[in-house]
Amino acid sequence: MNFTLSSKALSSSRTDCLVVAVPEKGDWPASTTQADEALGGQLKALQKNGDLTGKAGSTLMLPVNDAPWSRVLVVGTGADKDRKPADYRKALIAMATVLKDGAARNAVIALADTPLNGDDAVTSEASKLRLIGRTLEEQLYAFTGFKSEQPAKRKLAKVTVVASGAGKALKDAFNLGLATGRGMNFTRDLGNTPPNVCHPTWLAERAQQLAKEHDVIKTEVLDEKQMKKLGMNSLLSVSAGSAQPARLIVMEYKGGKSKDKPYVLVGKGITFDTGGISLKPGEGMDEMKYDMGGAAAVFGTMQAIAESKPKINVVAVVAAAENMPSGTATRPGDIVTSMSGQTIEILNTDAEGRLVLCDALTYVKKYNPEVVVDMATLTGACIIALGHHATGLLSNNDELADDLLAAGERAGDRAWRLPLWDEYQSQLDSNFADMQNIGGRPAGTITAACFLSRFAKEYRWAHLDIAGTAWNSGKAKGATGRPVPLLMDYLMSHAGK
Ligand code: BES
Ligand code: MN
Ligand code: ZN
Repeated sequence: MNFTLSSKALSSSRTDCLVVAVPEKGDWPASTTQADEALGGQLKALQKNGDLTGKAGSTLMLPVNDAPWSRVLVVGTGADKDRKPADYRKALIAMATVLKDGAARNAVIALADTPLNGDDAVTSEASKLRLIGRTLEEQLYAFTGFKSEQPAKRKLAKVTVVASGAGKALKDAFNLGLATGRGMNFTRDLGNTPPNVCHPTWLAERAQQLAKEHDVIKTEVLDEKQMKKLGMNSLLSVSAGSAQPARLIVMEYKGGKSKDKPYVLVGKGITFDTGGISLKPGEGMDEMKYDMGGAAAVFGTMQAIAESKPKINVVAVVAAAENMPSGTATRPGDIVTSMSGQTIEILNTDAEGRLVLCDALTYVKKYNPEVVVDMATLTGACIIALGHHATGLLSNNDELADDLLAAGERAGDRAWRLPLWDEYQSQLDSNFADMQNIGGRPAGTITAACFLSRFAKEYRWAHLDIAGTAWNSGKAKGATGRPVPLLMDYLMSHAGK
């Protein structure tokens, strides 16, 4: 798909399909008025007789005879006084749904002059262009590589988005949106890939490929022998039952000065989680292929960063392993010594995410991080607590937590903070080791984060539990690409560019 930004007048923009907005209540944007004039007042007439309600998310496709456009797609954007970025995004999704499988080979989208309510940071023309770019990429996504028959080829091949100018700020914003959308789609591809293909070694190859495609990324992969030498016995206890060896995948992006401390991202990369000897029930177990959703989001973010080239340094570490039961698998009751030296009594082999993450969190100390943000499909309890709308956020630093919450709010990829009070820590007390890997039923998301916090004492750290937000179950089953938008907003807001 070819995406461009243009400030050309609509009257001289030849296209198969012009897209304009009609509000349910309020003033028509300039581009809609222009289109209406060129159409001899047809839009006004349609509004008058009730065919054009302007209801948020409604669409009306009109054939056109005597204009530079073969069709006009009118998108309803709701009332001016109510319209928030989230409502605007709904209208964008409705538009993309029509364009996606329509007959138009190209389209000109004139929606960036629709006013929004809220902070300048989310309502400016630049932020609208960013959202348009991201939403287009996201909505045009399809995962068809494993179908033997490919669906009919999409007709739409070129999309032009109209802006008030073609200056650097607007272009950068639009491109950042596109890069974020592509990053999300990369994340979705990885999450959707079946677990017989997507194993730790395959994931490591994706990182090597990313480095090949982008000069600004350097990749290093540690194998089990190297991890053993570093003392990562906790991580290795998870892959012990699997025929697939674990990998520690490191990607480095250097956009800042060499002395700038890096932003470190850590991802849980369990390519399949059977639960191990503490075997999960069979129903829906296929969904545990997404247990590398944290890793996938790290990959997607690194790709988007490589394309956007902010002036910061970023290090990404993925702890990749497969959690399987077998004669060599870790048993409930086993005690391992983590890389930090702390010993862990493994009471449930299904609480494996924290076991791989804790060694990765110890490993990243060597980068002297500015902050460390880990992301993981860590607990079913997080879905019970927050459902599928908010990512769980836990942190040892209020400023970092607030910063991430604000980034999620701006990006429409929200998180909600849970407490990490000392009172919860005692649920991890073990009779035999420094700690046990489960804290019982109460506050499962918090005790999982408590476990991680013991390995993240030496830097500012936040944990994102994305168990409820990284994928959709049911009819729209598949990876969502979250929390790439949150992370991109956070990182770019620190790039000072
Ligand atoms: N990957 C799961 C968490 C999960 C469950 C994510 C459902 C998405 C949907 C994780 O490894 C796990 O099994 N956690 C256990 C922890 C428990 C044994 C303390 C859980 O949530 O039940
Ligand atoms: Mn598990
Ligand atoms: Zn898991």
